[in-house]
Amino acid sequence: MRIGTIVGSLSAVSINRRILAALTEIIGDRAELVDVRIDDLPLYNRDLDDRFPAEAVRFKAQLGEVDGLILVTPEYNRSMPAALKNALEWGSRPGGENAFPGIPAGVLGASGGRLGTALAQHQLREVLAYLDMPTLGQPEVYLTFDASELDPVTGAATDPALRRRLERWSARFLAHVERHPRHA
Ligand code: FNR
Repeated sequence: MRIGTIVGSLSAVSINRRILAALTEIIGDRAELVDVRIDDLPLYNRDLDDRFPAEAVRFKAQLGEVDGLILVTPEYNRSMPAALKNALEWGSRPGGENAFPGIPAGVLGASGGRLGTALAQHQLREVLAYLDMPTLGQPEVYLTFDASELDPVTGAATDPALRRRLERWSARFLAHVERHPRHA
């Protein structure tokens, strides 16, 4: 199965991208993970609905080819980052051409704070519900990032508790994708 991955952070040293790397190692060959980049998307403007920029065309085409979507998001000011919301705007437009409906989704996130992106994830879940995406409810993964839980060279999750959480999440997410076939 082919799973798209979106990281809500544009940072080159994103902790959320590091969590995605750890998750990728755990998922291994159970799925092909495809990076769906959002860093090249311009700010959404509905004046461009009839002449989508190439980056947005590519973004929507990638969404059309995945069996599921993993979103790993930071929390910015108790919400999802603008870059991620911007990508959701592009994917949902123009009217009647929403690329998201039916894509089984899974959300996780890491932050420096104690709430571990809980508020950002809940806001994101509301938007995904509106976009008509069946989203895995449990287990929730709110991570307070701790670099000592990852291998500094390979990026793999070395902390047993973190590893267990990501393993449990992966198993549940892959089963969720199988329960919601898109390309049947
Ligand atoms: C943050 N950070 C943050 N953390 C948090 O737990 N709740 C929050 O509301 C915010 N708000 C916030 C706003 C902005 C603009 C920045 C840049 C940062 C801290 C955040 O968790 C930390 O920078 C993470 O490293 C962000 O994730 P990435 O970008 O490294 O993946």
